[in-house]
Amino acid sequence: MDTSSSVIVRPARNIAGQLTLPGDKSISHRYAMLAAIAEGITRLANFSTGADCASTLACLRALGVKWEREGSTVTIHGCGPRLSAPVSSLDCGNSGSTMRMLSGILAGQEFTSELIGDESLSRRPMARVMTPLTTMGAKLEARDGRRPPLRITGGRLKAIDYKMPVASAQVKSAILFAGLFANGETIVFEPVRTRDHGEQALAAFGVEVKHQGNEVRIKGDQKLRAIEADIPGDISSAAFFLCAAALFPGSQVVISGLLLNPTRARLLDILISMGVGISVTQLEEQHGELRGTVQVQGGALNGAAITGTDTAALIDEIPVLAAIAPYTSSGIEIRDARELRVKESDRIASLAKNLRAMGAQVEERDDGLKIPGCQKLHGAEVESFGDHRIAMAFAVAALRAEGETNIRGADAAVISYPDFFDKLESLARR
Ligand code: S3P
Repeated sequence: MDTSSSVIVRPARNIAGQLTLPGDKSISHRYAMLAAIAEGITRLANFSTGADCASTLACLRALGVKWEREGSTVTIHGCGPRLSAPVSSLDCGNSGSTMRMLSGILAGQEFTSELIGDESLSRRPMARVMTPLTTMGAKLEARDGRRPPLRITGGRLKAIDYKMPVASAQVKSAILFAGLFANGETIVFEPVRTRDHGEQALAAFGVEVKHQGNEVRIKGDQKLRAIEADIPGDISSAAFFLCAAALFPGSQVVISGLLLNPTRARLLDILISMGVGISVTQLEEQHGELRGTVQVQGGALNGAAITGTDTAALIDEIPVLAAIAPYTSSGIEIRDARELRVKESDRIASLAKNLRAMGAQVEERDDGLKIPGCQKLHGAEVESFGDHRIAMAFAVAALRAEGETNIRGADAAVISYPDFFDKLESLARR
């Protein structure tokens, strides 16, 4: 990734306009992977435009899956359960989702494959997928036993009853995908309820998945049938516009076709509790995924505390919430969020450094941050740390700072939302 690119963001008076978002990243990855092992041709409209989902598609091509992309629609020719052995390493780029979730499918394939990633992904923990997939009977090897490259020799698997030690939807999906290649019923128990796109996607492709409380069950050897889908807009990308609008009483933003799956929409509740005006209309559902039109109006901006189960529900939105925290009346405190340290960057450290560069007071803790409210920030030179969500979060913080902010490595936004800076510029009123 080119981390030398800079974008300058100037302060705004408010944010206004209408928009739709490219398809949700979490859903795009899962639909593409399941389409690959389904029977028939899957058509996915509004597929994510981010580089992460392009990494998933490239890996699938290397595994013998044929697909075409026309505009925002991706058509995938399913291979059924057996993929082809790749001739070289599978490059997951910056995408932890690609590496972890694809591992679940590769664990069920009768060949050896190697998954590699960029510098950031090569630092990220993989033991969380290695342990359950090894117990299921696949052979997994990694650098120091836990970091990419990840070598997987798969085959016929056995079902497990697994209690996940970390709350991770990627790991849950990886185990459920592997469960398709196992004898018997695989059971996954998660410590905290995480996003359920894996379960919804499997059901959409015709798989029976049973779900009760924090437990999900799947029987092996089920057939997947191709689907036609229009992927809802990515709510984690929308988060930047929702929070940008929240910064100014005069803002008015309408986002249609937005993903509103209850396991992903916690941000809306938090913003409402902070005094932001939000209304939701035109709800509809496709393949178990809820979508609707969200209208946001700036107003008061109270503080918030994000702890416990909220941390998992808001894991991708915490960067932007932290970035607007100094402008709230009573600040934002984030606890129980140690997972943020092993994301695309150490997000707790990245947030603290950039906030301080803009003149904010911040208390950095092992598992979170405490950011007092009623602070005035000034424009500054900040870093993306090669992390898409950090780059976009500070573009939002910059809108209410005094003076210009230079975001170094702003290119990182391509990972989830290549058009982000143009879109933000088109909505900012000055
Ligand atoms: C994701 C789950 C989360 C999230 C990531 C996408 C998913 O990661 O941070 O951006 O699609 O399942 P973890 O599974 O590591 O919590």
